[in-house]
Amino acid sequence: MLLRRGWTWLQDKIYTKARNFFLNILAAGPIPKHVAFVMDGNRRYARLNRKAIQEGHSDGFVALRRMLEVCLQLNVKCVSAYAFSIETFKRPEEEVSALMKLAEEKLVELTENGDILDEYGVRLNVIGKTELLPESVQKAVRRAEDRTRHNNRAIFNLCMPYTSRDEITTAVQSCIRNANSRDSEEPYITEKDIDAQLLTNLGGSPPLDILIRTSGVKRLSDFMLWQCCEDTQLQFSSTYWPDFGLFDFIPIILDYQRKVWSRRIEVS
Ligand code: FPP
Ligand code: MG
Repeated sequence: MLLRRGWTWLQDKIYTKARNFFLNILAAGPIPKHVAFVMDGNRRYARLNRKAIQEGHSDGFVALRRMLEVCLQLNVKCVSAYAFSIETFKRPEEEVSALMKLAEEKLVELTENGDILDEYGVRLNVIGKTELLPESVQKAVRRAEDRTRHNNRAIFNLCMPYTSRDEITTAVQSCIRNANSRDSEEPYITEKDIDAQLLTNLGGSPPLDILIRTSGVKRLSDFMLWQCCEDTQLQFSSTYWPDFGLFDFIPIILDYQRKVWSRRIEVS
């Protein structure tokens, strides 16, 4: 028993040392300002590991916290995560309520004093049609956003319930309202106007540098379609989200650094 505990302690120590070693090396190169995750594969992970679907989602949250911390340690300024699409409301009621319960519980946990958002000075923005969430979750969202409102070292966008088409439609509607209120004869809306009204931009997010989707599926599923338009590096990993970790992330960051360095060479 004592021997097993000692072995686990040693393994943890070695893992932490290796982790810090790799993080320090990566941090010496260019670091993306904004990384987004499409956290896919929770149910397949649950089936593979003979777990209930809900457990797949709660293990998914553990992975989210892990990756958020890795990004913050690397000094990534903004992390976005697709936690719930508007379409996910169509899933079985049992699964939807489990996800809502998880969200409510974790919003409280994440914003507690001394927890990760507090420790790294992160402002939380819950992005999407939050009015579709149950009242108790909306309350938790407002409370969590209020609690982190004054943090200014980094941003965490939890997209829930979100779709890009809804975000773009809402942005266009705001532009029309603004133009009408200026009494212009014919509302003239530019790309810049729409861009300024996107939920991510209203929350102060920088342009999206890397979008990662896990579980081997190669589509965007209505996530950050506008934000992906310019210079975003799209990465598809075959790992199911709950298993995704630093060692899946390292090659993605190295790819980003190679790209930045090769551009610097081209320009010079
Ligand atoms: C996609 O996998 C994942 C989701 C629909 C939910 C993502 C949510 C979490 C990781 C927890 C997030 C935290 C909060 C605060 C709610 P899937 O269900 O589509 O799995 P599959 O692709 O294997 O079918
Ligand atoms: Mg899926």
